[in-house]
Amino acid sequence: MDRDQRSDYRLAEPPANLRLGATCGDDSGMGTVRSHEFWEHQSSLPGLRSVIDPNDRRGWKSAYLDRLHKAALARHLDFQRRDRVLDFGCGIGRIARWVAPRVATVHGIDGYRTMLERARSEIVAARVRNVLVCAYDGERLPFQTAAFDKTTCVWVLQHIVDELELSVVLSELARVSRPGAVLAFIERVSEQREESWMPPETIVRRRAEAYAAAFSSARLSVRAAQPICDDGPIWHNRRIDRLVLGGRLPTRLFAAIAHIDLAVRRRRTVGSWTDHLFVCERS
Ligand SMILES: C[S@@+](CC[C@H](N)C(=O)[O-])C[C@H]1O[C@@H](n2cnc3c(N)ncnc32)[C@H](O)[C@@H]1O
Repeated sequence: MDRDQRSDYRLAEPPANLRLGATCGDDSGMGTVRSHEFWEHQSSLPGLRSVIDPNDRRGWKSAYLDRLHKAALARHLDFQRRDRVLDFGCGIGRIARWVAPRVATVHGIDGYRTMLERARSEIVAARVRNVLVCAYDGERLPFQTAAFDKTTCVWVLQHIVDELELSVVLSELARVSRPGAVLAFIERVSEQREESWMPPETIVRRRAEAYAAAFSSARLSVRAAQPICDDGPIWHNRRIDRLVLGGRLPTRLFAAIAHIDLAVRRRRTVGSWTDHLFVCERS
């Protein structure tokens, strides 16, 4: 496939002053914030382009992947009215806002100030009252031990390039989860560590086994691990792909297509990058 046609999450129109790997020091009390300019730029993009595909100007692909992520989370998280949910790396609050009506409370947390500003304004605009967002300083999560019943984390761990930082984050997620809590992660996995259009300072591709090992080290038992999407949003069906991505189907059908997509998808060898869902239980 032509590399330009691949549907990767990548940087669109990098700002001229992009300085990756920069340390921004104390940014509104958030501590060390790396790649600040990169995420600031992403958060300025309209709609879902800021957190799904910056180059998806027409929006069909982002709308479909949004439904696919939510369908995958709903299948495995069995949200209950009493649930206290953590959305780690909440970005503009896409997942937090969707989870909110299903549960008691959602806490969104993110390492980047401009993403949180977007999240706050979108939460206010959506009149969602049970979502709180706050900043992550890269070290300790500002929550009590065993505070959460469920955690969502979509396309965030792949942006934590440093392995030590990854293990700190996972240990913290385990600490703030009650025993038996369920945590769902969606990450792109690949055999090739640098297989991405994004600058290497901002993203890493890990193998599915590497994520599984990292979860286990943090006392998170992997209950399920499955691919949910590969280099076309609809697995093995290029015709439906074209219908969805070409905007030839109404978006109200996307949720149903996503459910069918997940139901028929089967485990296969990862050849290229693939979105994986990992469902873990806090032991
Ligand atoms: C691709 S976006 C996904 C946002 C959201 N989870 C969603 O699916 O809509 C990645 C998010 O991870 C956040 N992020 C990146 N590195 C992080 C880190 N080390 N700690 C916390 N958040 C981080 C970014 O600010 C951004 O909001």
